[in-house]
Amino acid sequence: MPKPKVYVTRELPERGLKIIKEHFDAEIWPEYAPPPKKVIIEKARNVDALATLLSDKIDAEVFDAAPKLKIVAQMAVGFDNIDILEATKRGIYVTNTPEVLTDTTADFAWALLLAVARRVVEADKYVRSGQWKVGWHPMMMQGRDVHGATLGIVGAGRIGFAVAKRATGFDMKILFYDVIPRPEMEKLGAKQVDMNTLLKESDFVSIHVPLMKETYHLINEEKLKLMKKTAYLINNSRGPVVDEKALYQALKEGRIAGAALDVFEQEPTPVDNPLLKLDNVVVAPHISSASYETRSRMAEMVAENLVTFFKGEKPPNLVNPEVMKVRPLQKQF
Ligand code: GLV
Repeated sequence: MPKPKVYVTRELPERGLKIIKEHFDAEIWPEYAPPPKKVIIEKARNVDALATLLSDKIDAEVFDAAPKLKIVAQMAVGFDNIDILEATKRGIYVTNTPEVLTDTTADFAWALLLAVARRVVEADKYVRSGQWKVGWHPMMMQGRDVHGATLGIVGAGRIGFAVAKRATGFDMKILFYDVIPRPEMEKLGAKQVDMNTLLKESDFVSIHVPLMKETYHLINEEKLKLMKKTAYLINNSRGPVVDEKALYQALKEGRIAGAALDVFEQEPTPVDNPLLKLDNVVVAPHISSASYETRSRMAEMVAENLVTFFKGEKPPNLVNPEVMKVRPLQKQF
């Protein structure tokens, strides 16, 4: 039997790529920047599988061009870039890479939180640019205490929980907002509250919801107005969950103290994004899961999802299990 064909939309960490190359007839987009949509469509015409990243828009237009496509294996936990309903209708399996990146992403939410509260990036620039001229000064670079403060977690799934767990080491009071009960959060001593209470009472608001219709601009002008003047917003979920224009206004008018963002409404964010002009904003280029270990394991999970599917078994990280009724599993190796 000829090997199934896979189009891989970027060079992946070697641990995953090696398995993919062993089992499949694989073509890999060679450039650092993502392939244009028309390339994905062109390549999809003739493949059994796609291995994708969150920056690839995989929708009906791609599926329409891809009569043989059976599975999209995404290297990310989020899959808002893939039209799941359209995939399911056509019997296309979709997989993601959950859990492995939970702790790595929670670590980075904490890196952002500490950096913005204690002005780490500003301080670094201050020293390097020669502005540090007077040694220790009682008023220099004062920030806000993290220990003992109130942390508000918006979305207390796996990552939200891992962020909250770390907060217990900082003796923080933890509030959380979620649409379902989260007993594991209560066990940490966290208290479930409505969104408005969380925004009014928290010193740090950290966002951990997936991007969906319901969470688009969840943090908007009205919500930002509820936050304390001394509070910080942390977002390493998805950019469009926060209305960036409203955030900029809130920061510019001093209605909140600062923000730390790993994600943006448009990625890469344009260099003229006014948020980048503000000293009380810490930014990163969507790297929350970017540790060597985690990225390697994520790539390996992409490969495992593909191999399992073509062996005729349920892939370990199937996000649309209803698809199994549309296209029953079948051994294809
Ligand atoms: C990264 O943002 C992911 O969804 O894995």
